[in-house]
Amino acid sequence: MTTILVLNGPNLGRLGTREPEVYGSETLVDIESNLAASVPEGVSIDLRQTDDESELVGWLHEAVDRRLPVVLNPAAFTHYSYALRDAAALLKQAGVPLVEVHLSNPHARETFRHTSVISGVATGVIAGFGSDSYRLAIDWLLRSQR
Ligand code: DQA
Repeated sequence: MTTILVLNGPNLGRLGTREPEVYGSETLVDIESNLAASVPEGVSIDLRQTDDESELVGWLHEAVDRRLPVVLNPAAFTHYSYALRDAAALLKQAGVPLVEVHLSNPHARETFRHTSVISGVATGVIAGFGSDSYRLAIDWLLRSQR
């Protein structure tokens, strides 16, 4: 069984009602069930969300220890969490892929969203495709692991 960790940062638990014109009307539960339905048999999607930076750091440590590929939407932590960046760098060092994803395209939004402290240690970045950003990240992870 291949497990893919799909980790989500602060306020993403509010998807569905949070700025639907920016983030769409799907909830995180909708996204989770659509992803789970889209992956081949033998692949498991372990989707988690937290508003807590230290919990997210702990999950990245777990990904390193278990060598689990990660899809990460760091949400607002994207723009300023050096702790999260350092944790993501541990995955890079271990050779475990991490794809940074965003529902919206941060580069088309406020200036503070144009900086990602995570991208420099991510394997790649997918942004601006709504929940398809997650699906594209997972497609790539599955293809790269074949
Ligand atoms: C986001 C973009 C971030 O700037 C924002 O803070 C989020 C969501 C996105 O998925 O588009 O919470 O990561």
